[in-house]
Amino acid sequence: MPRHIAVTMDGNGRWAKKRGLPRSAGHAVGAETFRTIATYCKDIGVQYFTVYALSTENWKRPKEEVDALMELFRKYLREAAETMAERGVAVRVLGNCTPLPDDIKALIGETERIADTLGEGAATASLCINYGGRNEITNAARRVAERVRAGTLDPKDITEETIGAELYTAHLPDPDLIIRPSGEIRLSNFLLWQSAYAEYYFTPILWPDFTTRDLDDAIDDFNRRSRRFGGVK
Ligand code: FPP
Repeated sequence: MPRHIAVTMDGNGRWAKKRGLPRSAGHAVGAETFRTIATYCKDIGVQYFTVYALSTENWKRPKEEVDALMELFRKYLREAAETMAERGVAVRVLGNCTPLPDDIKALIGETERIADTLGEGAATASLCINYGGRNEITNAARRVAERVRAGTLDPKDITEETIGAELYTAHLPDPDLIIRPSGEIRLSNFLLWQSAYAEYYFTPILWPDFTTRDLDDAIDDFNRRSRRFGGVK
């Protein structure tokens, strides 16, 4: 079983368009899919599940679409805060929260606080919000540079672990399997550093249509791969 699965929740807009619905309706069903798959991951023993919910570039979308996404974040973070302890899935947010509305920042603080009470071994569903891989690495480089300037770090002691510890994912293992639905075959700035040895799985299924069966198919495919991490087997 992969320990960490990540997904770009793609195809919501097309799903809605096919039905003559506003794009926000696709996101609403996509968020339900997130809840279903996050729960399923916990049930089958995938400890970490991470989704791309808003990129640093998605702010360019029409205001009503961005507002609808914020409303979904409110709804699901509130729900997570209320049910997390009982469901046993820690919900966490990865990304730069600074530009988010204050009430969402407060909800994120609240969910983080409850997630911390679940302990290290808890199944974890992470929402990447205002996340960008390059932005994440740039910020990490800046923090490392500040430590060098402060004289607390010698440049010759900078390792991959030094960088990894400054990323939003510092507390997560690297993803084993990254799923991209909706027929797109690109990375789109998602988990650039962390995906160095991830297996990718691309499927034409639109995210709102993605089922637990589809996750099983992706995991079966993953289990047929030979992971060598640059070595030989
Ligand atoms: C990409 O599909 C999807 C997004 C930019 C947003 C994803 C966010 C959600 C599903 C809501 C998440 C909220 C929670 C709380 C889980 P797209 O809009 O680019 O689709 P398209 O390529 O068909 O246009």
